[in-house]
Amino acid sequence: MSTGLNIAVVGLGFGEAFVPIYQAHPDVNQVALVDISTERLERVGDLYGVDARFTSYEDVLADRTWDAVHILAPVSFHANYTLAALRAGKHVACAVPMATDLDDIDEILEAQAASGTQYMMMETSVYAREFRAVENMYRAGTLGELTLYKGVHIQNLDGYPPYWLGFPPMQYITHALSPALKLTGTGVQDVVAYGTGRLDEDQIGQSGNVFPTEVGLFRLAGHDLVPEVTMSFFKAARPYIEGFSAYGSKASVEWPVVEKETPLLYELQDLDPDQADTGLRGRRSHTGQLEVDNGTELLPESLRRFVERYEVRPADGGAPLWKSAEHGGSHPHLVDEFVSSIVAGRAPEVGPVTSAEWTAAGICAHESAVNGGERVVVPQYRSNPR
Ligand SMILES: NC(=O)c1ccc[n+]([C@@H]2O[C@H](COP(=O)([O-])OP(=O)(O)OC[C@H]3O[C@@H](n4cnc5c(N)ncnc54)[C@H](O)[C@@H]3O)[C@@H](O)[C@H]2O)c1
Repeated sequence: MSTGLNIAVVGLGFGEAFVPIYQAHPDVNQVALVDISTERLERVGDLYGVDARFTSYEDVLADRTWDAVHILAPVSFHANYTLAALRAGKHVACAVPMATDLDDIDEILEAQAASGTQYMMMETSVYAREFRAVENMYRAGTLGELTLYKGVHIQNLDGYPPYWLGFPPMQYITHALSPALKLTGTGVQDVVAYGTGRLDEDQIGQSGNVFPTEVGLFRLAGHDLVPEVTMSFFKAARPYIEGFSAYGSKASVEWPVVEKETPLLYELQDLDPDQADTGLRGRRSHTGQLEVDNGTELLPESLRRFVERYEVRPADGGAPLWKSAEHGGSHPHLVDEFVSSIVAGRAPEVGPVTSAEWTAAGICAHESAVNGGERVVVPQYRSNPR
């Protein structure tokens, strides 16, 4: 008999992508599906051959069969669903953001500490192939000192489910900011942010937020880098972009203007001793392409195929389908980190404190924007001083 984990995937929009990955993980025994939509439950359940289907989240929590939940319901459910699962003794993986309110973050930290179970925020950006390449270069010293960082997430949400109307952009900051925080190993001390532009009345919804776009400067605790982040969900005419550029004293990586192209790598050249004769000043940079790889060697064999476009053979006998592997091939890495942390009884890499740091910075940035750029001090969550 398998001693593997039993995991429920909650919310089958984005959540569908994780179902075959959990099924393929060697340490997972059984997968359950949870969605309020019976149509989605049926479609995804039939496609992947999952019999355990729930329309009630509470029923999953009450059922001791399930060791863990991966929450991919809309953002407004993240905090309450996390708290309920931790209090029911389940391990929790949750899509970003951890919460949209500082009090909820505190409550989750307390509940997790009391639960003895693991919590991980499933931040895709720091498991993407591009981030892995930049982090490897930074750790190896080839970027030099990190002196400038620009994070950006522009995504037009017109026509999305109505709960996205007026969503405060900075409250979804983690994709654009967390690469800087993971590279520097620190959190944000304080933030100054502004809202730019104005939402139309019919774009505000119940949110009360009027800013389609927010820009912020984040002063780090114990590091000289000041990341700059732009977040925009409405009224900025450009295709989707979600990434970061990291500039170092020796080399820099710049996110491509067109999503899915390869980032550029700039390497600063020595001053040419004959340069003065030519009238040129300043050091030049060599421009190349960042070399990325999928990090498949880090994954169990059975998960490796999910880093790129993969084939699904429907359990109900339909014709094979192809699914794309979004977010830089991060999904199998996220699943493996979450499952491995539970099996090993250790905190995941993006555990409760890190998740709190990455999320709170954006909540405080929105508060700053609402208050016309007032400096907002971000709560500190680490017990050890930096
Ligand atoms: N890169 C990333 O990390 C990334 C990408 C996309 C989405 N997300 C996050 O994943 C979550 C889901 O996003 P989405 O685009 O699939 O949203 P969606 O609204 O398209 O789909 C959500 C799904 O959850 C179901 N649902 C709604 N309320 C529920 C409830 N109370 N209990 C259980 N199921 C419920 C819906 O029926 C639907 O199937 C969001 O929080 C989003 O922020 C993260």
